[in-house]
Amino acid sequence: MTFYYGADYYPEHWPHERWNTDAKMMQAAGFNVVRMAEFAWVKLEPKPGEFDFAWLDEAIDLLAAHGIKTVLGTPTASPPAWLMMADETQFLVREDGVRSTYGARREYCPTHEAYRAASDRIVAAMAEHYADHPHVIAFQTDNEFGDNCFCDLCRAAFQRWLQDKYGSLDALNEAWGTIFWSHTYQKWEEIPAMRNTAIAHNPGLQLDWKRFMSDTYVDFQQRQIDILRAKAPGKLITHNLMGFGYDKINYFDLTAPLDFTAWDNYLRVFWSDKSEVDVSHMALGHDTMRSTKQAPFWVMEQQSGPTGWSTIAEAPRPGELRAWAYQGIAHGADGMVFFRWRSCRFGTEEYWHGVLDHHGEATRRYHEVVQMGQELAQFGGLVAGSMPVAETAMLLSYDARFGFQSQPNNPQFHYNQHFYDLYRGLWQRNVAVDIVSEQEQHLSQYKLVIVPALYVLSEQTAHTLAEYVRAGGALLVTARSGVKGLANEVVDTRLPGLLREVCGVRVEEYDSMKPDQHNRVIFDVDAIKGKEAELRVWAEWLEPEGAQSIAHYSEDYLAGQSAITINEFGAGKAVYAGVWGDSELFDTLYEWLLPQIGVEGIAAPQGVEVVQRKQGGQTFSFVINHSQEARHFIIGEEMQELISGKAIKGEIILPPLEVLVLQHN
Ligand code: GAL
Repeated sequence: MTFYYGADYYPEHWPHERWNTDAKMMQAAGFNVVRMAEFAWVKLEPKPGEFDFAWLDEAIDLLAAHGIKTVLGTPTASPPAWLMMADETQFLVREDGVRSTYGARREYCPTHEAYRAASDRIVAAMAEHYADHPHVIAFQTDNEFGDNCFCDLCRAAFQRWLQDKYGSLDALNEAWGTIFWSHTYQKWEEIPAMRNTAIAHNPGLQLDWKRFMSDTYVDFQQRQIDILRAKAPGKLITHNLMGFGYDKINYFDLTAPLDFTAWDNYLRVFWSDKSEVDVSHMALGHDTMRSTKQAPFWVMEQQSGPTGWSTIAEAPRPGELRAWAYQGIAHGADGMVFFRWRSCRFGTEEYWHGVLDHHGEATRRYHEVVQMGQELAQFGGLVAGSMPVAETAMLLSYDARFGFQSQPNNPQFHYNQHFYDLYRGLWQRNVAVDIVSEQEQHLSQYKLVIVPALYVLSEQTAHTLAEYVRAGGALLVTARSGVKGLANEVVDTRLPGLLREVCGVRVEEYDSMKPDQHNRVIFDVDAIKGKEAELRVWAEWLEPEGAQSIAHYSEDYLAGQSAITINEFGAGKAVYAGVWGDSELFDTLYEWLLPQIGVEGIAAPQGVEVVQRKQGGQTFSFVINHSQEARHFIIGEEMQELISGKAIKGEIILPPLEVLVLQHN
């Protein structure tokens, strides 16, 4: 298979005379792909219906002559002024009711028919023009779908979406509980968009609005996909997502119709207040993106220099770009595309640096990218197509995510952070993890399924989880699961609601803690007996109903009450953690839990990440020293190291930010 390596290229930003130099430098870096055109609408369609592909054809052909294929972005994320100013109702309206104005990007209303028609036209023209082009291998839809629009058109579309969903106003009123504060709707037209209101909207409306907005982008994308498939059959279609952290679109839905998932990976960014980068966040991003389609993915934008718009973040240290890019490959990337080729001299992103600086000459970041290109030329094709194989899954619920956005329950609670706190202990042990949706049909392939705060829970999902445990699986469920039904209404049973039986426990009482408040959890079992962990944010007093308590609280009025339990159910077991602890708390829990369910990681020194990709009996181990110090790593049997091309065995000293790619015999 082909491994794709390249950069995002904007020939329209550079003098024509420079293109040849760029193509040569890219070829020397081992590039075999670029992404182009995703912001070039005005150059492709300078006037309504008048197209000019000549410049892009020339760029594609020039690059092809240097062995470089092209992914073309549909340019709809940044519409031309001629389109938007012709009808300003095409601009999205923000939550406060203020309409956006021209001057940035992603400022369109996704339901606007005039906008959609203009999008259809440019997408169709591109698809027709490049349908048979041998060097255009794929299309990317738009760029980083996102944002909510709260305009009247979206409101009307929301009302239609609700009509489809509920059928009758009686059903909607019942589901949302609109009798509260006399909100009962008597006409569909009365239902508002989730714009700012005096205080807060009905939780049922909020969850449905978020689902609707997510569906709206999925639907807008589908329009582009339908055109691309009809007019340019055979070309692959992708979209560049924003990793684990972006939480306004259901990424399982958005990626379902795509041929492969791609995402944009920036670690050291100018808005981050952390001076230390934490590569485990990137690992979660990669795992989430791979899991959307359970297939190799691409990084369509990989950080290639200091990031920034008005201010500039720290420069990636020598070796970091390469180590970070290898991390993506380790987690299943079959394409690694740096954003961007050369830092732009103008526009909003002047300080978002590319592989090349503004001056365009080869400097150390370019040399690092060249080195990696030469390495990948040796073995990229060999690892492409292989996949990490996980025995552990984490359930990512968009209903829970959306639900917590409106009602975090505790102001210090963030679903994404909690999810990450549960992920981190696995990552530290080099345990491979898949991120699955509620729709996952094959849970039985996992030894452990972790269910972080499944706040909104359907009967179907509760049933799937119970059957998984009954058949022998191990489940870890955390606090505030089973609290709500699908209309975002609180259930009328003891918590954890529909998971009470499988977990063999009930929540007797819960306590939401103030920022300066804490409690302690003391573990009571085997190897972790007596270990303690500090607890903040949330504590539940658990009453086992068949489960065994494995940890208790030591402070405040909860002292002595059970905090974490384990229940034998069918052939499996279910752990219920009535706490929102930090990663240390879950780390201690894993220390006890993982060995007894046979989940093994890969031992490695601190700061060294080991990830395996497998295919047809073949295993590749990526060993990445993310630390700033040399680390000793032991290789038991002789293996082929693919970067150096040498057979190695025994104790290896891995310099800082160095990487090994081992092919197992
Ligand atoms: C990404 C986006 C790129 C570029 C980059 C740097 O999110 O897709 O087009 O804007 O960020 O800001």
